[in-house]
Amino acid sequence: MQIKDLGQFHEMTNLAKNSPEFFWEQIAKTFVWKKNWHKISSGNFNQLDIKWFPGAELNITENILDRHLKTHPQKCALIFLANNPSDLPLKISYQELHDRVCQAANALKNLGVKKGDIVTLYMGMVPELFISVLAAARIGATFSVVFGGFSAQSLAGRINNSKSQFLITSDFSLRGDKIIPLKAVVDEALKECPSVKSVLIHQRYPDGIIDLISGRDFFWKDTVEKAQTICPPEYVDAEHPLFILYTSGSTGSPKGLVHTTAGYMCYAQYTFSNVFQMAADDIFWCTADLGWITGHSYVTFGPLLAGHTTVMFEGIPTFPTPARFWEEIDRLGVTHFYTAPTAIRALQAQGTKWLENKKLDSLKVLGSVGEPINEEAWEWYHTHVGLKRCPIVDTWWQTETGGIMISALANITPSIPTFATLPLPGIFPVLMDADGREIAWKKGQEAEGNLCIKHPWPGIARSIFGDHNRYSENYFKAYPGYYFTGDGAKIDAHGNFRITGRVDDVVNVSGHRIGTAEVEDVLNRHPFIVESAVIGAAHAIKGQGLHAFCIPQKSISPNEELAILNEVNQLLTKEIGAIAKIESLQIVTDLPKTRSGKIMRRILRKIVENDFSNLGDTSTLLNPLIVQQLIDKRK
Ligand code: WTA
Repeated sequence: MQIKDLGQFHEMTNLAKNSPEFFWEQIAKTFVWKKNWHKISSGNFNQLDIKWFPGAELNITENILDRHLKTHPQKCALIFLANNPSDLPLKISYQELHDRVCQAANALKNLGVKKGDIVTLYMGMVPELFISVLAAARIGATFSVVFGGFSAQSLAGRINNSKSQFLITSDFSLRGDKIIPLKAVVDEALKECPSVKSVLIHQRYPDGIIDLISGRDFFWKDTVEKAQTICPPEYVDAEHPLFILYTSGSTGSPKGLVHTTAGYMCYAQYTFSNVFQMAADDIFWCTADLGWITGHSYVTFGPLLAGHTTVMFEGIPTFPTPARFWEEIDRLGVTHFYTAPTAIRALQAQGTKWLENKKLDSLKVLGSVGEPINEEAWEWYHTHVGLKRCPIVDTWWQTETGGIMISALANITPSIPTFATLPLPGIFPVLMDADGREIAWKKGQEAEGNLCIKHPWPGIARSIFGDHNRYSENYFKAYPGYYFTGDGAKIDAHGNFRITGRVDDVVNVSGHRIGTAEVEDVLNRHPFIVESAVIGAAHAIKGQGLHAFCIPQKSISPNEELAILNEVNQLLTKEIGAIAKIESLQIVTDLPKTRSGKIMRRILRKIVENDFSNLGDTSTLLNPLIVQQLIDKRK
């Protein structure tokens, strides 16, 4: 179902409100099913046994591959842009993708992978990753993609949490001028992962040297490339887990969100088609890595379910120069470009000279995702990339939501700088006041509060892997009967939503979620540090940066403070990955805590941002005097 104009948008919004079952059924009917559902949905936010299309059976790859082979087998499905721009773009048709996915699926079967098994993928952005995701789904295995920038420890933690038995990796990954030894990281991780039986290795850099463990390690070229190109789809229940994706929360270690097959499929295509409004020959480029939800829903599933052409980029925006994105847009004729505010700000900081002589005339729609986009970055994107012709869709959503929730629909509903604007038909966001009550917003009024969603939608994650209780505590406890997003938001007089950022202990660094608890955990392992508090504060390029306040074992000189910052950052790279880097570290004698022992991060944030004027009520602190000490030291 693709909405065509504003009138239809309002019609669909009303239809989804008044007849939700009918609304979602129309969307479901556009897919191929092995067996029909006996109900559209069941469950609610009190019971937390949410199901969509129960009773149905399907295979998502049949909807991505076989379905499109009937109408456009030779259409380009995937364009691969290698790290090195002198490598020609690699174009893979729907037919070829089908054949390569079937080969990989057969190879996985030969390795012993069965329906319901969990396959972990730890790779760079190469077609083999894309193919592996689909191959797992082809045979009913659940895939778990771990971002190739995570450390051995992080990888091991995710594998052990899911008890995954199979791993697919590359020997190396190529990013900018770096060659990252993925297989060496895997070897280190697997020392602590007894569950893993087999490792399949794709060779991205065959000149490099890797260690092999006989009986455990197999090469892609010896297995996948020799396999049959036909593999019948394995049909699964609508609620069969399609993938697990780990993301950070405000407490504890990263949690594995479980997305199930039918609901995710319907939601990925519905949101993709309506937000981006692609025409048949358009080319979609989402710059996200497959290690994140954006790469799942809008590099892979959304575009392919809709039968379009999607671009996969191996490199980074600044290699070999900050003109890379713009050169590729011109080279390929990209029509729809979807990236993160962090990338926009980083390129904006390099100046407009990199855009000189770039045509960018193929572009029709621009998108933004992952963090709030500030007005300056929005204007720059609109003026210098979109040449003031292209609407910007600022898409708000989360790993948990599976797909876009609040966004303009390109050329249908208006784009407004810094506003995600309106919810998609079928999505019911509301704001909560300080007393935990829903704010009854009316036209002409403004409102601000914590953002919740009212009714289940097909794309919502169904659980946290192995810990349904944590799922319920995390998302449904604060506001019973509602899904709590962890974000704050405002609504303007016309009903447009503006996301103001996280209100929990999650920091959004360059669009990547990092839990302060996770970082504190690592910091506290440093021999000099007894206790620490980590906060996120505004950062010109990254959106937010991490800052630490630490209580030391013994008194420490200012010189040692810098040394500890460096050591802590090395530790963080080793334990989490390079994305978890501390910008500043302040040694303190105490931390501002409430009587119940909770660190008042709000105060620390203000101190880092040099905003000492309005620290709010500090009278409930155990040790109110510490605040002045922290300010004095900061000054
Ligand atoms: C933030 C990424 C403002 C938000 C898809 C959310 C945004 C978190 C936007 C989810 C946006 C994402 N405007 N904030 N357009 N998009 N966020 O799970 O805080 O990696 O809760 O999913 O990113 O991050 P996640």
